[in-house]
Amino acid sequence: MAKTIITADLHFGIHEQYDEIVESFLQNLQSLGEIDSFVIIGDVAESLELDSRHFGNNHKKLFKLIQQLPVENIAFCAGNHDIWTNRGLDSWEILTERLKALADDSGVTYLEANNLYTEEAAIVGTMGHYDYSLATKGLEINGIKVNDDHYETKTPPGYETPLWNDALYIHWSYGDKGACEKICSAFDKRLDEAMKKRDRIIVATHTVPMLEMNGHQYKEKPMSNFLNAFSGTARLGEIILSHANKGKAIKAFSGHTHLAAGPILINDVEFHNIGSDYGTPKFIVLER
Ligand SMILES: [Fe+2]
Ligand SMILES: [Fe+2]
Repeated sequence: MAKTIITADLHFGIHEQYDEIVESFLQNLQSLGEIDSFVIIGDVAESLELDSRHFGNNHKKLFKLIQQLPVENIAFCAGNHDIWTNRGLDSWEILTERLKALADDSGVTYLEANNLYTEEAAIVGTMGHYDYSLATKGLEINGIKVNDDHYETKTPPGYETPLWNDALYIHWSYGDKGACEKICSAFDKRLDEAMKKRDRIIVATHTVPMLEMNGHQYKEKPMSNFLNAFSGTARLGEIILSHANKGKAIKAFSGHTHLAAGPILINDVEFHNIGSDYGTPKFIVLER
């Protein structure tokens, strides 16, 4: 029976103690026997050294560990942490070129570039990004209405420094909205292609495709509400649902918020957020 393991947010390399937990998490998967596909939905690995010399070392280490399991295929999409860098590298180049080269080197599928086709299913994925479509409407902080400039700089009104670290470590020439549109359009095309080739589609988006997949919605806490804007984009949900009801079985998984959500069923598409966190990796097994 073909098994697909879906996990997210392993952040391998961030802390020795967490790495040991990820290693034993992988060891425990041995008991599942043969695994057809192992899918990591972004924030795969990272390093505190964000320069080109260290780029990808932790990703490679993690892939080697997974390759010790009886796993046929490994696939991943990027997460925002996978494209973090200091100013020596360009995050867009990491997203579109460096992670692809790294995947090719490791013999794994980089979903931002290619779908993974198994005998029975197509696996289609993306980091997604955010365009503030999931921002809390009418949010005020320090008596000032939050606007796009606050979100672009990740700095709430009245604050001197960013509250969300993507502001410090994602460097590209596109703003959030521009990058999000390019990323989502490319994902839409890959999903179109998958629909032509398989009847069963597994969608993996790092950022969430709708508010319902963001477990963090602290209505009483404006500062936490500020972060909702960076959880994902409604555009991903629209793209996925535009492929619904066409005779295909679609399941959509996300990560990024580190809090499980779902499953919920919309137009016959099942949505889940995996909910992996630092030190508590989680996974879902699909069997068929
Ligand atoms: Fe994460
Ligand atoms: Fe993330």
